[in-house]
Amino acid sequence: MTIIVTGGAGFIGGNYIHYHLKEHPEDRVVCVDKLTYAGNLSTLAPVMDNPNFRFVKLDICDREGVMKLFEEEKPDVVINFAAESHVDRSIEDPGIFLQTNIIGTATMMDACRAFGNVRYHQVSTDEVYGDLPLDRPDLFFTETTPIHTSSPYSSSKAGADLLVMAYYRTYGLPVTISRCSNNYGPYHFPEKLIPLMIANCLNDKPLPVYGEGKNVRDWLYVEDHCKAIDLIVRKGRIGEVYNVGGHNEMANIDIVKLIIKELGKSEDLITYVTDRKGHDLRYAIDPTKIHNELGWLPETKFADGIKKTIKWYLDNRSWWEEIISGEYQNYYDKMYGNR
Ligand code: NAD
Ligand code: TYD
Repeated sequence: MTIIVTGGAGFIGGNYIHYHLKEHPEDRVVCVDKLTYAGNLSTLAPVMDNPNFRFVKLDICDREGVMKLFEEEKPDVVINFAAESHVDRSIEDPGIFLQTNIIGTATMMDACRAFGNVRYHQVSTDEVYGDLPLDRPDLFFTETTPIHTSSPYSSSKAGADLLVMAYYRTYGLPVTISRCSNNYGPYHFPEKLIPLMIANCLNDKPLPVYGEGKNVRDWLYVEDHCKAIDLIVRKGRIGEVYNVGGHNEMANIDIVKLIIKELGKSEDLITYVTDRKGHDLRYAIDPTKIHNELGWLPETKFADGIKKTIKWYLDNRSWWEEIISGEYQNYYDKMYGNR
């Protein structure tokens, strides 16, 4: 089977490509990526010479380019990871989020329709459900929780999800959607909480914690997310949404302290900074549906996953040092300079 993976030079898409080529070496994987600031070809270096892999630099909003690629590749499946993914950047400048996340999704689905209703999977996020209160640990997001977004990022992802369901109902496009909680692991861009804290710790730089650090996220090791997507694509019910998460809720400050401890640094590095605008309090996924229907359960415990992740950042310094020495430095100074 030929599978188009968009956003494969990014964090989760890159991990997915490594996972897919390892688990299904008989498949052809075509990666489509625009190579924005978040895309790194070095993430794909280990598979570049694989004869069953092809990389194509392309914007998912480029209708003509996408149609041409479908003509060439005749894909059986499309998995759409490509997105602008950082909440803080969406607060600074929402426009590109609407473009890539909504128009890009529609363009990929139009190509699927034009080439015989190709099977389409949308990689979405638990952030489409908004947030939960900190004092109600009994509440979780299920697939029927109403969409109730907070940031331009989550709103653009929710817009895309609505379009995906519309293409299913209106055109009969064979779609599925996965809504996953926060991922962590190798190749995670160091603007996000865990890799940023690891990189700053290793460089003895201040660790900027938003507000009081009490916001809660539900962390999942990226490979467990990849397994869930693969299962949904192969065995999921068409037209369905599947929540993906591992009941691993942690307050941001506890994550930061854990990283400090693992790296043998001092908590004096912690710096409390101005809170994010509209900051979601708590995300927590109920994964009962994917467990009952597809037998999925997360396999990596957080205690092990965070150790593996830290070791990866220690062993692959050149991957992230190259990123933080480039254009990213301007972003960092702008976002954190006067915070
Ligand atoms: P990322 O920012 O690390 O990677 C995004 C990739 O998409 C990059 O390689 C970038 O170059 C590419 N891209 C951006 N715009 C493009 C365009 N117009 N055309 C083609 N390629 C483009 O993101 P990520 O963290 O890997 O997230 C991947 C997907 O998973 C996103 O859809 C995101 O919403 C979703 N998601 C992420 C998380 C998380 O914790 N990171 C959790 C749940 C869902
Ligand atoms: P992030 O990794 O941006 O993911 P998301 O906002 O999509 O959940 O942030 C995770 C949490 O960490 C979120 O509550 C914001 C917080 N955070 C900080 O406290 N400091 C930081 O420098 C960053 C990037 C995030």
